[in-house]
Amino acid sequence: VPQRKYRIAAIPGDGIGTEVIAAGLEVLDVLAARNGGFLIEVDHFDWGSERYRRTGAFMPSDGLTLLKKADAIYFGAVGAPDIPDHVTLWGLRLPICQRLDQYANVRPTRIFPGVTSPLRGVERGDLDWLIVRENSEGEYSGHGGRAHIGLPEEVATETSIFTRRGVERIMRFAFTEAAKRARKHLTVVTKSNAQRHGLVLWDEIAAEVAADFPDVSWDKELVDAMTFRMVSRPRSIDTVVATNLHADILSDLAAALAGSLGIAPTGNIDPERRFPSMFEPIHGSAFDIVGKGIANPVASFWTASMMLEHLGEAAAAHALITAVEQVCAAGILTPDLGGKATTVEVTRAVCDALRGSN
Ligand code: NAI
Ligand code: MG
Repeated sequence: VPQRKYRIAAIPGDGIGTEVIAAGLEVLDVLAARNGGFLIEVDHFDWGSERYRRTGAFMPSDGLTLLKKADAIYFGAVGAPDIPDHVTLWGLRLPICQRLDQYANVRPTRIFPGVTSPLRGVERGDLDWLIVRENSEGEYSGHGGRAHIGLPEEVATETSIFTRRGVERIMRFAFTEAAKRARKHLTVVTKSNAQRHGLVLWDEIAAEVAADFPDVSWDKELVDAMTFRMVSRPRSIDTVVATNLHADILSDLAAALAGSLGIAPTGNIDPERRFPSMFEPIHGSAFDIVGKGIANPVASFWTASMMLEHLGEAAAAHALITAVEQVCAAGILTPDLGGKATTVEVTRAVCDALRGSN
C-alpha cells in the first residue's frame, strides 16, 4: 500500500510562534508514526521579523510560489515589539491569506475538560461554537489612504469592500458548515443599522443563501448585541458568520470565554482547494512570555488537528484532540489556564497519551 504523504510548509514566525509550532511538529511526528500512519514532509521557512530586519522583507519574493507546493501551511505568529504591527501583518500573514484566496477563516471554540470558563455556571458543552470569519475583503481590504500627512488637515480613509461574490461565498460556506453540526443553527452578525450599504448587502445575501439550506435554522444579530449574547446566553449560539473585523473581535472574546487565548485555533481555508490552506493558533507572538517556556501549546495542537482533518486524516485529527483533552482533564495545564506545567511538559504528556492510544 503506498503511504499517504503530506507536504507541510511550517512558518513558526516570531515570539512564542516558534515555541508552539516546534511543539506541534513534535506531536505530528508521533501521530504520523502510529499504526496506519502517514508521512509528513516539512519545509521549514524562517520567515518573520528577524528576516525583515536582515533583508527588509518578511518572506522572499518567490515565497507564495514556494507555499503553493505545500498541501497545507502551519503558521505560528508574527509580530515584534520594534516593528509596527501593520507592517508585520501586511508583510506576511495577510499577503498569504489574500493571494492564496483563503477566504474562509474558521474558528472553533469550546470548553476543554479541566478548563474553567470565566462565565459563572457555564460548563463543558454549554459553549460550543464555530465562528466563520470572512477573510478576503471587508474592513481588511487594505483600501484607503492618507493625505496631507503630518499637517493639521491630515485625512485617512479605511474603506470596507463588500462584493456580492465575496459575501455570497462566505455565506454559502457558513451555511454548509452549520449544516454539518448537530445543532444546525447559524447566526449572521452585522452592523446593518449603522453601516447601511455593505452590511445591508450582507443581510440580503444571507436571506438568499438561506433558501438553499432549509435544514439550517438561522437568525441575525448586530455585533454589539452579539457580544452581550455571547456572555449572557452562550447556549443560544452554534455557528456564527461575520465580517473580517467583527469576527476577528468576536473570536478573541470567544477564546477568553472558553478559558484562554492559548487554546484557540484557526484555519484560513480555501474551500475550493485551489491553494493550500493555512492553519494557526489565533494568538500572537506574546512578547510578555516569550522564552519562558510557558506558552500554551494547546492552540497549536488543536490547529494541527484541524490541519489533519483538512488533509483527510480524520482519525489522526480525532486522536490528537482526544489526547489533548485527556491531558487537560489530568490537570497538566500551563499558567494561562491556572496550571504549573511548561510547554515541554504539556507536549510530552500529549505525545505519551498518543503513544498509549496506539
Ligand atoms: P498575543 O496573542 O500575543 O498575547 C495576548 C495575551 O495572551 C498575552 O498576555 C499573552 O501572554 C497571552 N497568550 C497568548 N497566547 C498564549 C499562549 N499560547 N499561552 C499562554 N499565553 C498566551 O496578542 P498581543 O499581545 O496583542 O500581540 C503580540 C504581537 O503578536 C503583536 O505584534 C501582534 O500584532 C501579534 N499578533 C499576531 C497574530 C498572528 O500572527 N496571527 C495574531 C495576534 C497578534
Ligand atoms: Mg485577531
